Amino acid sequence: MSNIRGRFQKDADKAAAAYSASVFIDWRLYPYDIAGSIVHARMLGKQGIISSQEAETIVDGLKAVLEEIEEGTFKFSPELEDVHMNIEAGLIEKVGEVGGKLHTARSRNDQVALDMRLFTKDAINRTVLGLKGFQEALLSLAEANKEVVMPGYTHLQRAQPVLFAHHLLAYFEMLQRDIERFSECLERVDVLPLGSGAVAGVAYDIDRDFLAKGLGFSRISRNSMDAVSDRDYIIEYEATAAICMMHLSRLAEEIILWSSAEFDFIELDDAYATGSSIMPQKKNPDIAELVRGKTGRVYGRLTALLTTMKGLPLSYNRDLQEDKEGFFDCVDTLLSSLEVFAGMLGSLRVKAESMAKAAGEGYILATDLADYLVKKGEAFRTAHDIVARLVSYAEEKGKLLNELKPAEYKKFSTRFGDDVSSITVDSSLAARDNTGGTAPKQVAAALKEAKKMIDTD
Ligand code: ARG
Repeated sequence: MSNIRGRFQKDADKAAAAYSASVFIDWRLYPYDIAGSIVHARMLGKQGIISSQEAETIVDGLKAVLEEIEEGTFKFSPELEDVHMNIEAGLIEKVGEVGGKLHTARSRNDQVALDMRLFTKDAINRTVLGLKGFQEALLSLAEANKEVVMPGYTHLQRAQPVLFAHHLLAYFEMLQRDIERFSECLERVDVLPLGSGAVAGVAYDIDRDFLAKGLGFSRISRNSMDAVSDRDYIIEYEATAAICMMHLSRLAEEIILWSSAEFDFIELDDAYATGSSIMPQKKNPDIAELVRGKTGRVYGRLTALLTTMKGLPLSYNRDLQEDKEGFFDCVDTLLSSLEVFAGMLGSLRVKAESMAKAAGEGYILATDLADYLVKKGEAFRTAHDIVARLVSYAEEKGKLLNELKPAEYKKFSTRFGDDVSSITVDSSLAARDNTGGTAPKQVAAALKEAKKMIDTD
């Protein structure tokens, strides 16, 4: 640490140094840090800011450090504070004093901003792949259970019959929006901050276009003060991750309900369920519960970073170091949740009969009865009223609607004919034959469309 403490009379207090060290968290940035340094060194050489021989020595040294880290022989030391200082020290150890030229025309402020942007770009690409994998799992499950009928719920009350595939495709839509949000976020991350220096830019004739090209950025930051202190892209990732986890959590909640004896719609594969330590009959949906639980953790990371950023004066402040732990955890949590949950979806058993039974029971076809009267000329409000009275009559008699005789129907409206018995779960499904509806024809088309969406991008 001697080099950055040059003007101080004493070493940092031990506790204070330990308090500010971040290498146990930010060591993960090493591939990005080294990639950035290699291109930076080449640019310095090309511009004649250092000699091309020096640039080459530095690049070789950096590659050697990378190799050591990857082999696990590199020793990260907390006394050197962060990943940047550790790598620089490793470089100087390898190539000698010339290694100290690498940091010319650069500050750790634009360096860490670069590393984080490179990390975020990778994270977004991996997340989008994970989301697509999850969408595929949804589609396979829907495809394998194309004909399965279940109750569609509102207020968690059985409302109208729907296809199970239709229910699953609702989640496909949510995830598609998540993919769009991550892709838009990627456009804003794709800006090179290197060349901003500590705050004001650098006093050397650097070539930022060369840096951008070498590091795969399509744009260059326009303002150095913003570039070193902007963490919007991390907040955007975390906010998008929070929304995405909220979606996963909703499905997790349904998996938990469906696998209960009360619903009995699905059975989880043993590989994704847990036994109870005291109740041998139990098969617990722990994975779904953990997805639901980890959602809170991702929300927390978002709130934490928003709070860290609030009230920070321009430009770089050390508070910004706090962005990493929460961000890395968000990425890890989202990626692992997507992977494990997709596996759980792929292996669960659908209890089609049990779902169909629930879809046919009770008074779930009441809307269809009202629609029947409307088609015979009744006003919808009146039809609604007639069927409501019919339902309470059936309830009193302890009967289901399809157990009532045509004569009983006719007591409530002369518009009821014998064809009222043609109202079934199947007719109810088939009737919802408009774009976005649950008619088997519509759902088959939606499945096809969804598959195309996954394949094309
Ligand atoms: N570890 C620091 C961070 O993550 C790197 C930048 C340090 N810059 C500084 N001026 N102290 O933010």
